[in-house]
Amino acid sequence: MSPEVKPDFLISPEGLRIDGRRPDEMRPIELKVGVLKQADGSASIRQGKTYIIAGVYGPRELHPRHLTINDRAYLRVTYRMATFSVPDRKRPAPSRREREISMVIANSLRPTLFLEEYPKSVVDVFVTVIQADGGTRCAAINAASLALADAGIPMRSLIPAVAVGKADGKLLVDLGDEEDKYGQGDVPMAIIPQTEEITLLQQDGSFTKEELVEAMQMGINSCKYLHELQKEALKRAYVKKPGEGGDDDDDDDDDYEDDLETDLGEAELPEDE
Ligand code: CDP
Repeated sequence: MSPEVKPDFLISPEGLRIDGRRPDEMRPIELKVGVLKQADGSASIRQGKTYIIAGVYGPRELHPRHLTINDRAYLRVTYRMATFSVPDRKRPAPSRREREISMVIANSLRPTLFLEEYPKSVVDVFVTVIQADGGTRCAAINAASLALADAGIPMRSLIPAVAVGKADGKLLVDLGDEEDKYGQGDVPMAIIPQTEEITLLQQDGSFTKEELVEAMQMGINSCKYLHELQKEALKRAYVKKPGEGGDDDDDDDDDYEDDLETDLGEAELPEDE
């Protein structure tokens, strides 16, 4: 990443942001489901330059046992930044910030999950920030919610999240890193889209009451847009397109042979006797 330079302004005279976005415009978003082979469920998100992968393992036996909850599963979220994810090398030891963000992600996701179906177990959610460019806690919630759905954890709804902030006196959705660092504040939020119930609301910086109400409405609108993207990503992973098959046992064998050809090269495949 290029060295940090404080921008001259965050909002241009034309009312656009440093990356050319309008105040209510999200960064480009790419969501993918089923990106990790070993996990029970997984998803990735690219939100502008922020890039995050979430993997879900479980429900499974909980260690250490003293954390056991008798009537439901423990939702354990571990948010970590890769050492190379930020301009200054991040120290590998878990920081207080990472522990706090792990907790707020778990609190945001828990209300829609039927964890009572898995008493005494754990659902582990590992979130790794590969590249951080602002808004990682919200992007992590967007990906982790999809990964939980991919793992088949029963839920009432997916949870979308976005940060709304303020720079040069203007309210902006989905802050990038410079807007986060040099702006006047941010309000990360997550909602249950059907009911608009809020599962995450934090605030950094100062906002008037009117600004906060407007920021939250902008956040709700952006979360509803994100929710549509989440549903589309799930459908892309699970709804078979016509002609993709799935009822023919031979398909699996064909796939296996295709893999062999890819891995070894056709010339090295043993001859059929
Ligand atoms: O990422 P999020 O906005 O949820 O959390 P933050 O604590 O407000 O951090 C804002 C941004 O600062 C991150 O997204 C990173 O781009 C950057 N950051 C960093 O450069 N180095 C760190 N050790 C932590 C955060």
